Amino acid sequence: MRVTIFGSGYVGLVTGACLADAGNHVVCVDVDAKKIARLQRGEVPIHEPGLDGLIKRNSEAGRMEFTTDAAKGVAHGLFQLIAVGTPPGEDGSADLTHVLAVANTIGQHIGEYRVVVTKSTVPVGTADKVRASLTAALAKRNVGVEYDVVSNPEFLKEGAAIADFMKPDRVIIGTDNPRTTELLRLLYEPFTRNHDRLLVMDIRSAELTKYAANAMLATKISFMNELANLAERFGADIEKVRVGIGSDPRIGYSFIYPGCGYGGSCFPKDVKALSRSARELNYDAAILEAVENVNARQKELLFKKIHRHFDGKLGGRTLALWGLAFKPNTDDMREAPSRALMEDLWEHGATVQAYDPVAMDEARRTYGDRKGLTLAKNANAALAGADALAIVTEWQEFRSPDFDNIKSQLKSPVIFDGRNLYDPSYLARLGITYYGIGRGKRLELN
Ligand SMILES: NC(=O)c1ccc[n+]([C@@H]2O[C@H](COP(=O)([O-])OP(=O)(O)OC[C@H]3O[C@@H](n4cnc5c(N)ncnc54)[C@H](O)[C@@H]3O)[C@@H](O)[C@H]2O)c1
Repeated sequence: MRVTIFGSGYVGLVTGACLADAGNHVVCVDVDAKKIARLQRGEVPIHEPGLDGLIKRNSEAGRMEFTTDAAKGVAHGLFQLIAVGTPPGEDGSADLTHVLAVANTIGQHIGEYRVVVTKSTVPVGTADKVRASLTAALAKRNVGVEYDVVSNPEFLKEGAAIADFMKPDRVIIGTDNPRTTELLRLLYEPFTRNHDRLLVMDIRSAELTKYAANAMLATKISFMNELANLAERFGADIEKVRVGIGSDPRIGYSFIYPGCGYGGSCFPKDVKALSRSARELNYDAAILEAVENVNARQKELLFKKIHRHFDGKLGGRTLALWGLAFKPNTDDMREAPSRALMEDLWEHGATVQAYDPVAMDEARRTYGDRKGLTLAKNANAALAGADALAIVTEWQEFRSPDFDNIKSQLKSPVIFDGRNLYDPSYLARLGITYYGIGRGKRLELN
């Protein structure tokens, strides 16, 4: 089948590569000419395990093309997938500028029946706006062409995106038309052969399902962080509590890890957007607001611990920082807790020696040659002469480090562990001062 995808970011490229790998002919359209030029040269602009090989194989087989030519894209695919960004606007609501620009573009060029599929995360009611934008563009041209609009939110996780797309837990199809259900069923057939995973529903429910999923996951994290802060004050160990509650199958172990806050391109903006949508409906989404507030506070926690440890005297100090990406196996630094920590440290006159296994280029793009930031060539180099070590991303290579080496490299043996990677009593025996999240020691933080 012929598929066009607008937006060649994390979602667009993974979707394109997986659909092409199943035998479809995919054209990826993006307005970023530099990104498209890189993709045409065979360079993949993001880090996602397995994506390079998949794009290479399918480009070479002629099943995957990249272009800035929107007219070519509209002419190509029966399916027109919208996978552009929906960043938060100034008031936190989802900015639909890019989504509606694509709808308008499709309306400008559409010549025969097309299925317009929204994969971007968009507020409830967006399908109506997509339709209105497309219809207005058609009216300007004074032509009538048939099309359908479908909501098909994406649930892939960065870092495991290919596996998520190839073997989805579910494929949500929001539609008001049985014809599109059948077409989408055909498109997703190769990924749902084991058993049918298509969940067909009305468009508004599909749009809300995506926000509901992310809001639920963010709630689990903020809930555990709240409990971690209480555990710290009670003198309890949240890691023991985590296992204690996770063993209850009604609760489960996944997504209840306490830490220094959630980041990334999805949870922060989606929780915000959903609570802003609620406000527009004069509904006070108290849980969502709390989830956001708890997370904002949690992203400051490591800094508070560092500030307290050094008696507020951070001027001239150097922190070694392990982990820049918002989670392991991605180079994405959008809303990453590392950014909040570094920015707080800089504001208080400290400098940072940072290392991340894959996000170094992204850090360079984000901060350039900023004073106060040294990008170290490896984890060990980040430690050299630093006053303390802070860990913000739970990369595998940080889980079992050479603690004697850490002690010998740091000016003082102190670790601020934002992901609870280490055993506090073991580190105490090694003579390392250890601060985790929600682990025993009573620290009056507020
Ligand atoms: N990243 C994720 O893990 C993830 C997972 C599920 C859903 N989503 C949702 O998917 C959407 C895309 O996310 P992303 O992380 O892939 O974004 P991204 O920022 O990585 O990529 C978006 C791309 O769209 C391009 N673009 C903007 N306007 C365009 C236009 N008019 N025509 C063509 N291309 C255009 C941009 O240049 C950019 O390359 C968002 O709504 C996001 O919430 C993301």
